[in-house]
Amino acid sequence: MRGRSSVCVPVSDPVIEFAHVVKQYDGRRVVDGLSLRIEQGQCFGLLGPNGAGKTTAIRMLLGMTHPESGSIRVLGHAVPEQAHRARAGMGVVPQLDNLDPDFSVRENLSVYASFFGLPDNTLDDRVDWLLEFAELTHKQHARIGELSGGMQRRLTLARALVNNPGLIVLDEPTTGLDPQVRHVMWSRLRDLQQSGKTLLLTTHYMEEAERLCDVLAIMDHGRIIAHGSPAELVRAHCERNVFEFPRLDAPQQAALDALPEVRLERSGTSWYAYTEQADPVHDWAAGHPQLRMLHRHHNLEDVFLRLTRRDLRD
Ligand SMILES: Nc1ncnc2c1ncn2[C@@H]1O[C@H](COP(=O)(O)OP(=O)(O)OP(=O)(O)O)[C@@H](O)[C@H]1O
Ligand SMILES: [Mg+2]
Repeated sequence: MRGRSSVCVPVSDPVIEFAHVVKQYDGRRVVDGLSLRIEQGQCFGLLGPNGAGKTTAIRMLLGMTHPESGSIRVLGHAVPEQAHRARAGMGVVPQLDNLDPDFSVRENLSVYASFFGLPDNTLDDRVDWLLEFAELTHKQHARIGELSGGMQRRLTLARALVNNPGLIVLDEPTTGLDPQVRHVMWSRLRDLQQSGKTLLLTTHYMEEAERLCDVLAIMDHGRIIAHGSPAELVRAHCERNVFEFPRLDAPQQAALDALPEVRLERSGTSWYAYTEQADPVHDWAAGHPQLRMLHRHHNLEDVFLRLTRRDLRD
């Protein structure tokens, strides 16, 4: 309905805007003409294989490294020129925790809060609230080395919220966490979303991206190769039915490949048959009762593997 765009609707500025951003290391473009917009209140997921350029993009929006060309605006400020202003309204969970091991849990929060100039009377209340939010009140006097990985990650998230930021940037917030802790993190991130914060996160967990993000961009070799809501991406890039086979011999591969509108792919040691129509594969499988097979619906991981398919990175 493009004709309706002539109606005057106020459009707020994006919270983050990258336009044609290029970053090179050693003459190689690791971010290659990146353009994206993240709107107020969105949870935006940046996905991509190892080395795709996600962390480099985040480091640029924090002003930690400078692009060769293109422009970046964050919270209305040009970055890197006014990065310090943009940073004042942001919270950051870096890919690797950088908590201070010489301080207790509580001190990590209060020292960080003092950098933002929080007055002493509100600082203690804020730190109490953050400890509760991260479920770390009982550990407030512990040293960082005494915390589990999950506790350290929760503390890093709490620290990112010290200045009550409108924008929170999280680089792999749940990598290495057990499923329980990951669920706690998800519910905290949802709380933040519901309170109106804008979130930019990177993740290698497709389930996380599907559950949390309104919009996703899949990056590869420094470029965005697909963009949309999780449901849109799945619909656009993968057939509805997926059949997984732990093993297939050569004649079975050939037979499946010959079925109409079946796309047969190998990933690791397993084979995957993708198709809109499930019946032909079921009919064929009925003649092979010994065959191990799993039938399921398409998901974001299928899309990711299809779009970024190649040998292992790094
Ligand atoms: N300071 C640097 N000097 C040289 N090369 C770098 C530097 N930082 C990143 N790179 C390279 O840039 C590319 C993109 O790295 P980046 O860390 O942005 O990837 P990523 O998408 O965050 O990957 P991962 O999922 O593994 O965290 C990689 O090839 C990496 O080796
Ligand atoms: Mg990274």
